[in-house]
Amino acid sequence: MPKLGTTNSSAMPSLHNGHVVGQAPGKVILTGEHAVVYGYPAVALPLFNLRAQATFVSASPGYGTVIAALDLLQHARLTDPSPLLKPLVLAAKTAIAEMGLENEPNCILQVRSQIPVARGLGSGAAVVCALVRAMSKAAKRPLDLNAQNRIVLKSEKLLHVRPSGIDNLTIVHGQPLFFRKGQQPVFFHARQCPVFLLADTGVSVPTSKAVARVAELRMRNPRQAEGWFEEIGEISKAMFEALKQSKPAELGPLLNSNQELLRRLGVSSVANEKLIQAALMAGSPAAKVTGAGLGGQILAIAHKEDCRAMDEALRAAGATEVRQVQWQAPAPACKD
Ligand code: MEV
Repeated sequence: MPKLGTTNSSAMPSLHNGHVVGQAPGKVILTGEHAVVYGYPAVALPLFNLRAQATFVSASPGYGTVIAALDLLQHARLTDPSPLLKPLVLAAKTAIAEMGLENEPNCILQVRSQIPVARGLGSGAAVVCALVRAMSKAAKRPLDLNAQNRIVLKSEKLLHVRPSGIDNLTIVHGQPLFFRKGQQPVFFHARQCPVFLLADTGVSVPTSKAVARVAELRMRNPRQAEGWFEEIGEISKAMFEALKQSKPAELGPLLNSNQELLRRLGVSSVANEKLIQAALMAGSPAAKVTGAGLGGQILAIAHKEDCRAMDEALRAAGATEVRQVQWQAPAPACKD
């Protein structure tokens, strides 16, 4: 079996000064969050203007693998993971096994991310995906998208017990996705997409907490919750059709209806509502929570001429950041 960096780095001619980079985008859910956990459809877009990056820096023989999460000021060896880095360590070990490497590579894997943590934008899945890409590039052992997806999903399961699988698929494939758990994912082109703005409440909430809240509600009132999930699923089907058939005018009412159901599920917090109202008052035809909720981000449709006014209104209402969703891949580097 091949060994990676176990003898000397000259065995890896592809490296530029011993550095190899892997990247991955974030993700935005248009419709269907939470309901998707229970098997109902959802629609998501990749988010290329926020990315995670991992740099493989080769090290001397005997060094082993060290993962350095530079933003978190944390590092870990594969034998001794710090609790925060467990998903990255699991991903590295799984990637080594999937690539058929005999030993762990001698390297430092430096991980950075522009994606804010615990804000519903897929930061966890993106850093893991970037790390796996850097490792497989350095080893010259390509892992196809299915293999990458398997590894990222396995790590996601450490972060919350029953991830639907939508985050990892959107991030790994970097394409708009119509997704239903247990069914073949449908990647599609969305030609006439409106401008979407994301506004950050500045409140970080782990996905697991929001998912647990919805699970409690479902336990207390299963029939009502399933009814809401079903409505959300229908909204996602209609969203998928509207995007495929380039009917952007249909998107607004769908997003607003989805938001109403997210309110009933209890995941739209005061901070979310403040930003949603600000977006609507500033001319947006529709705004909703995106991702797990209880803070995190809201997503709003923006008419081009209203973008500046919406940006100002959202910041005045407390948004810590406002950005446009760039869902089309700008460069092949994000999909390698
Ligand atoms: C998180 O991005 C979306 C949720 O639906 C959870 C999941 O799909 O695993 C809240």
